[in-house]
Amino acid sequence: MTIDGLAKESATVEPAVVLDGVGRSFDDRVVFDGLDLMIDKGEFVVILGHSGTGKSTLLRILAGLDREFSGRFLAPDQRSIAFQEPRLVPWRRVLANVTLGLTGNDVQNRGREALAEVGLTSHIRAWPNTLSGGEAQRVALARAMVRMPELLLLDEPFGALDALTRVQMQILLMELCAKHRPSVVLVTHDVEEAVLLADRLLVLHEGRFILDQRVALPQPRLRTSPDVQRIRAEVLGALGVFDERSELQ
Ligand SMILES: Nc1ncnc2c1ncn2[C@@H]1O[C@H](COP(=O)(O)OP(=O)(O)O)[C@@H](O)[C@H]1O
Ligand SMILES: [Mg+2]
Repeated sequence: MTIDGLAKESATVEPAVVLDGVGRSFDDRVVFDGLDLMIDKGEFVVILGHSGTGKSTLLRILAGLDREFSGRFLAPDQRSIAFQEPRLVPWRRVLANVTLGLTGNDVQNRGREALAEVGLTSHIRAWPNTLSGGEAQRVALARAMVRMPELLLLDEPFGALDALTRVQMQILLMELCAKHRPSVVLVTHDVEEAVLLADRLLVLHEGRFILDQRVALPQPRLRTSPDVQRIRAEVLGALGVFDERSELQ
C-alpha cells in the first residue's frame, strides 16, 4: 500500500508519522525489515524493548539522522531530538547552546522563553560545566523545544538522572507537551515511566512491534494506581520479565 493509502486509512486524526516497510541493516545484522508504524498528530508514543533491539536506530531514522534505510517514511520537517547525554557545547553559555544554529531577530527572546519554560531563567549565562545533570538535561530539552518541533524524539532522556530528578523531568515534559502539543516518540527502559507518560506503548522485539497498546488513563497518573500497575505488569510480560510486585496486585 502507498503512504497515501496508509494515511487515508487512519480514522479521523491526521497522522504525524508514517513508516511504510522500513528496513535497516548494518552489514549482516538486520535490525528491521519491513517495519510499519503510524503515529497520530499530538500522540505521545513510548517505545520499550531490550537493549540492541533497534530503538535508537528507529529514532535516528525518524530524526533524519540516518538515511541508509529502505522503504519510506513521512514525518514533519520540524523535528527535534534529545538523548540521554545532554550533548551541550562546553565553550558556549546556556542561552547560546539553546539557540545554536537558529537564525532570526527574535532568536535570543525565543531562547530565553524556552529556558524560562524549563525553569532555568537564572542560568542563562551559565557555562555547561557548572550545571547539574538535571539542569543540563533541562537545557537539552529547551534546545529541542525552542525549535517548535511538530515531532519530538527523546532517546532515554532521563536514563542518567537520579530517581527524584527523573520524576521532576517527567512532570516538566508533560507540562511542555500539554502546552505545545508535539507528537512525541520517547524511548525508555523504565516501564513505570512509560506507563505514566504514554498515550500509546510500543514494545520492539526482533524487528517488529510485539505490543501496541493505547493507554487511556487520564493524566496525571499515579504510579501507585492499580491501573498503572496492571499495565506495567502487562508490559513486563511482553518484555519477558517476571515481576513479583505485579503478582501481588
Ligand atoms: N552504526 C552502527 N554500526 C553497526 N551496527 C550498529 C550501528 N548502530 C546500531 N547497530 C546495531 O543495530 C542494533 C540496534 O542498535 P540500537 O538501535 O542502538 O539498539 P537499542 O537502542 O534498542 O539498544 C544493535 O545490534 C547494534 O549493534
Ligand atoms: Mg539505544
